[in-house]
Amino acid sequence: MSKTILITGANGRIGSALVAYFDSIENPYTLRLADLEMTEERGVKVDVTDFASCKSACEGVDTIVHLAGVASPDSSFEQVLPINIVGTYNIFQASAEVGVKRVIYASSAQTIEGYPLDIQVKTDMPVRPKNLYGVSKACGEAIAAYYAYQKNVEAVAIRIGAFEYRHEWAKLNARDLSAWIEPKDLCSLIVNTIEVDLTDNPFVIAHGVSNNRFKRLDLSDTKRFFDYDPKSDSFTTWDIDFIKESKPKV
Ligand SMILES: NC(=O)c1ccc[n+]([C@@H]2O[C@H](COP(=O)([O-])OP(=O)(O)OC[C@H]3O[C@@H](n4cnc5c(N)ncnc54)[C@H](O)[C@@H]3O)[C@@H](O)[C@H]2O)c1
Repeated sequence: MSKTILITGANGRIGSALVAYFDSIENPYTLRLADLEMTEERGVKVDVTDFASCKSACEGVDTIVHLAGVASPDSSFEQVLPINIVGTYNIFQASAEVGVKRVIYASSAQTIEGYPLDIQVKTDMPVRPKNLYGVSKACGEAIAAYYAYQKNVEAVAIRIGAFEYRHEWAKLNARDLSAWIEPKDLCSLIVNTIEVDLTDNPFVIAHGVSNNRFKRLDLSDTKRFFDYDPKSDSFTTWDIDFIKESKPKV
């Protein structure tokens, strides 16, 4: 029988990209889409701030891709507290109560954005958020680790970088280029996190960036553990050629 996958935040930018990705491949899963607004044919209405609605959405689910959240790094603590922190707790607690086996959690590169920009961050370095949105995502990682080690709900936290479509992204800076994740690369990583064997490692952090020439987040663990094979490189995609720029002044 195919796995039932609940996608929270399914109407959002990443959720829509993931649903379109599943439509474009031979989808091995039964999808249950969840968001604040959702028709019955497509899925279920869920408000993650409401525990009862989380619990009923989780019934009969094998794996959750938990994307619902406030996604702006400029968010205040009052904005992130109910949705990113309490909402993430609700999803994991509901999973533990109804027997969901695994949650893939949409964490963020903002959990480590407080490191100096010339540091490449590895998965085993302590979190260092630069804003309260990053704090909420770091808290979500801690919730994930707690439920994985103490409550038997396997978890992967994907530290998603700058998720952008090539045609939409006009304002480039060095940080974003090094943290870019191309939508198909992220979708392929999510599928691999659903499928990987976590028997010996119930909680794992994955770094969600593309194969950019310079990477803010190190990909060696993620490539190895999740068999992640990102196809895009921001520096090639935006045709940034260092040779053209490197003429010494005389
Ligand atoms: N877009 C990025 O570059 C990026 C980077 C790192 C992490 N993330 C994380 O990935 C996730 C998805 O990001 P996105 O860009 O698709 O965001 P988005 O804002 O486009 O989508 C978020 C979705 O969550 C839903 N939602 C909000 N409050 C809810 C609630 N109370 N109950 C249920 N659903 C609710 C919204 O309706 C929306 O459809 C977020 O958790 C975000 O923090 C995104």
